Amino acid sequence: DGVIREWTGPQEDVASPICRSIDGVFRRMRIGSFPLLTEAQALEALDAACRAYDHGRGPWPTMSVEERIRHVEAFTFRMQEQREEVVKLLMWEIGKTLPDSEKEFDRTVEYIRDTIDALKDLDRLSSRFVIEQGVIAQIRRAPLGVVLCMGPYNYPLNETFTTLIPALIMGNAVIFKPPKLGVLLHRPLLEAFRDSFPAGVINTVYGDGQEIVGPLMRSGRIDALAFIGSSRVADILKKQHPKPHRLRCILGLEAKNAAIVLKDADMDNAVKECVLGALSFNGQRCTALKMIFVHEGIVDAFLAKFCDAVGRLKGGMPWDEGVQITPLPEVDKAKYLKELIEDARAGGARVVNPNGGAVENTFMTPAVVYPVGPGMRLYSEEQFGPVVPVAAFSDIEEPMKYVTESDYGQQVSLFGSSAECIADLVDPLVNQVCRVNINSQCQRGPDVFPFTGRKDSAEGTLSVSDALRVFAIRTLVAAKGT
Ligand code: G3H
Repeated sequence: DGVIREWTGPQEDVASPICRSIDGVFRRMRIGSFPLLTEAQALEALDAACRAYDHGRGPWPTMSVEERIRHVEAFTFRMQEQREEVVKLLMWEIGKTLPDSEKEFDRTVEYIRDTIDALKDLDRLSSRFVIEQGVIAQIRRAPLGVVLCMGPYNYPLNETFTTLIPALIMGNAVIFKPPKLGVLLHRPLLEAFRDSFPAGVINTVYGDGQEIVGPLMRSGRIDALAFIGSSRVADILKKQHPKPHRLRCILGLEAKNAAIVLKDADMDNAVKECVLGALSFNGQRCTALKMIFVHEGIVDAFLAKFCDAVGRLKGGMPWDEGVQITPLPEVDKAKYLKELIEDARAGGARVVNPNGGAVENTFMTPAVVYPVGPGMRLYSEEQFGPVVPVAAFSDIEEPMKYVTESDYGQQVSLFGSSAECIADLVDPLVNQVCRVNINSQCQRGPDVFPFTGRKDSAEGTLSVSDALRVFAIRTLVAAKGT
């Protein structure tokens, strides 16, 4: 309702992955708390959103595109005043390095600016008239209604805003639930939201997902779900809607992106890209390389160089100069990753880098596990952490079969020198995944490129301009021309 209240109800503590010694024992530091809304309070936020949208008749959905852009510009201006605070919280809440935290903030601002430019272009196109078979028509883009946006902990600002901002700017009202890890950094932006948008247009709800998101979905009043996170949670959310066929979904889910290193690959480049691809932000990216196939003729040389490069990655606090490996924010993550390693060991694989998989407090030394094969959990499960499974292949059909039969279908990286060979593989691969990277790691950017996945990896496509289309419906005003 446009008011930020001081919260006196129940709260949940936020424990940082940064530990300190208390009586000789290292413990996560408490860095703040967030309110735990009740079901009734979450539904009040939904009421506010529905009032603001008012079945498409509210001031926000009927406002001109130029005016809505002005509101978003005002928000972006205010948001930038909070850069230092948000960057600091990114480091403390999720352990992201200083350069990557700054990049996440700046990339988000740039995304908003690009979105505004893309909307101006789209609006120019939409206001044109088309004459066809004696009918004169204007094709417009109209909002969907109330959108629920939920982003992931690994990009709590950027990935949330890549759905929230397009949803808003297209005239929808938004309910936004921040991720539990990466929740505090949204606090400094609340005033900017309140001051930049009409009451009820953007509503932030804090709390336990099951307690507050279930009732929102079950209400049947959510028109679109923008969710980036696990496939399991996405399935639960979708099923909660009483009329799933009426729910538009924009989902960014799990992935198990593979690298395929061919015999003639430039070894130094392949190693460099695979280390970055597998271990940037401790491997906690949906786009991370999560399985590496190397031709058997070069696998020993590859592993030697790869392990050497992994051994040189600097571990430390997010703000330390040149640091690459940082504390893991998820409480039981190291335990889960150790289980995956043990399972692979039982199947005959081993950790091939010195000290790989060692855990100290919230730190885990990256583990390179070889040879990983079918039947091991690491072969098919998305590890989302600093464990790198490697397999050798003699026949290209082996990695191709892996990609084809995977439950996921986001991206692949191909490393090789022969243009003919690469070209032969690209065609079958584009029918399995949504991006084939040649001699480079998998990644989302540049953000103007379409970002999606097949199978359990995504639903709908995001990019600066695709996101605008996703959060609107095309409507037609048509008249018989004379
Ligand atoms: O977690 C998934 C992100 O969209 C990955 O983005 O490739 O830019 O790190 P990125």
